[in-house]
Amino acid sequence: MHNQSITFRVQPGGMLKGEARVPGDKSVSHRSIMLGSIAEGTTHVSGFLDAEDCLSTMKAFQAMGVQIEGPNDGKVTIHGVGLHGLKAPKEPLYLGNSGTSMRLLSGLLAGQSFDSVLTGDPSLSRRPMKRVTDPLRTMGAVINTTDKGTSPLEIKGGRFLKGIHYDMPVASAQVKSCLLLAGLYAEGSTSVFEPAPTRDHTERMLSGFGYEVKRDGAKVTVSSGGKLTACDIDVPSDISSAAFFMVGASIANNADVTLQHVGINPTRTGVIDILKLMGALIEVINPREAGGEQVADIRIRSSHLKGIKIPEELVPLAIDEFPVLFVAAACAEGETILTGAEELRVKESDRIQVMADGLLTLGIDARPTPDGMIVKGGVIGGGRLESHGDHRIAMAFSIASLRATADIIIEDCANVNTSFPTFVSLAGKLGLPINVQSS
Ligand code: S3P
Repeated sequence: MHNQSITFRVQPGGMLKGEARVPGDKSVSHRSIMLGSIAEGTTHVSGFLDAEDCLSTMKAFQAMGVQIEGPNDGKVTIHGVGLHGLKAPKEPLYLGNSGTSMRLLSGLLAGQSFDSVLTGDPSLSRRPMKRVTDPLRTMGAVINTTDKGTSPLEIKGGRFLKGIHYDMPVASAQVKSCLLLAGLYAEGSTSVFEPAPTRDHTERMLSGFGYEVKRDGAKVTVSSGGKLTACDIDVPSDISSAAFFMVGASIANNADVTLQHVGINPTRTGVIDILKLMGALIEVINPREAGGEQVADIRIRSSHLKGIKIPEELVPLAIDEFPVLFVAAACAEGETILTGAEELRVKESDRIQVMADGLLTLGIDARPTPDGMIVKGGVIGGGRLESHGDHRIAMAFSIASLRATADIIIEDCANVNTSFPTFVSLAGKLGLPINVQSS
């Protein structure tokens, strides 16, 4: 947990120019630890995201007896213990700020022979877990939560799980992945139907470990009885981290940035599609494959953005990018309308309310709605803002300073370390100095 409060102060006049490689993909890094741990043999990971969320996953598996070395310059070695080799943790598993760790682990742990308890920081302890505990209970799992359906999750071991066919009410990769991981331990087959495509890293990586996953339209199925065989994983750069500089370079004057080796899995590229619809100048250069995922270099230059109605089918494909996309909307000519995005209210913070409040403070006409926002492009002023401990809010408002007329001060930024610990140094290298004050 953080006992230091971090404040960012950013002055107007920043620019963005040059080449950079943002850190490894958070979703892929989490999964590399999880699947590497339950595989047979030694898995070597490169490009691993050395940030608090992924380290929470790593520590959880170490506490369950898995020997893991690193991260050392992005390299991690995992000595897999096989599907049935995890050991009972001696203490509750503390997962910090990481929803992905908690939701995916709940599925994996529901199928173990031992009891476990999952806890998190105040933000994670507020986030909805019924979306995973309800279907897991249908499979036969026994999990206690608070009356509100939130963590701590107390998971009973030694339960007999049965495969189910589950129609997901929300398009969530975390719920899908949770159930697929429980499905590895459940009798028969487990299928998940998704109402809209969501990130498919779990399915891809299971296949990479030699575990059969069937996809039939919107339905994904796994059956128990297989095994995972260790492999090498090359983690691409995180498009969700790259997104800050994609928007930054689009809104700044005379910007020209190339981001290297960015993951462009088609279930993650909503941010590129949305920015292009707004008129952004984005080139996807040299697309290639790396470790079962597509990657490319992405060049972004200054552009004149226009407000749009964001197509709802792009929402799950850009779900983590809306804080910074709202900043793009604030710099666009005309109105940008987002609907169908109520999920944003249950992320690390209520990202609709927190972003609307912050944009209003900066003088932008931003009207929150139950499932989105209406943002009218305008002149961004300065002000003191609250990130509510949400890493992506802190980074989004830092990027807003590229068009601000006065200083922007952002409070409570320590959690930038959960996903992008090198954000300040990379931004500085590209021409956007961020002053960090700690107290
Ligand atoms: C993630 C899935 C998304 C995303 C989160 C990471 C994952 O959540 O917001 O940051 O790694 O599966 P939902 O699937 O709940 O939308």
